[in-house]
Amino acid sequence: MLKAVYPGSFDPLTNGHLDIITRASRCFDHLYVVVFANDEKSPMFTIAERRRMIEETCKDLANVEVDSSSGLLVEYAQGRGAGVIVKGLRAVSDFDFEFKMALMNKKLCPEVETMFMMTSQEHLYLSSSLVKEVSSYGASITDLVPPEIQKMVEERIGGSRKGTQAK
Ligand code: PNS
Repeated sequence: MLKAVYPGSFDPLTNGHLDIITRASRCFDHLYVVVFANDEKSPMFTIAERRRMIEETCKDLANVEVDSSSGLLVEYAQGRGAGVIVKGLRAVSDFDFEFKMALMNKKLCPEVETMFMMTSQEHLYLSSSLVKEVSSYGASITDLVPPEIQKMVEERIGGSRKGTQAK
């Protein structure tokens, strides 16, 4: 059984992430989508909320399992018997950091391979942080995230919306 791990912060899950999950789920027998804790970021959603978002969005993908971890990615993969880490690549700007992470993961655990999947053209510019930023100014995020997640982001931003005119 070919198992893979798709890790990320997913704060929140975007249509770009969903595209990678859907395509990767066709390439592997089992795909773990894993929300990793990252102390350097101050997230909009708790890990439990992010897990629920992904579970709800991916409920029709039978071989996708949502999980979370606060440990090392390669240790998670090994613990699950997954030989592949799937990463989405958007633009050249992603490459440098992703390349370093892939090499570090290889150093830590040579048995686990990182495989990059090119993002679909329509999602090239999309990131969780841009979704939060534009939504915080009141712009529509309809085409950027699944509908249930749009609702959660808009509710979370609620009254703290930016964009009062500078004088
Ligand atoms: O969505 P993100 O924030 O780009 O995802 C980053 C993530 C979760 C893939 C990365 O921070 C990670 O792998 N975290 C797990 C801890 C770890 O293994 N760190 C060493 C990476 S070389």
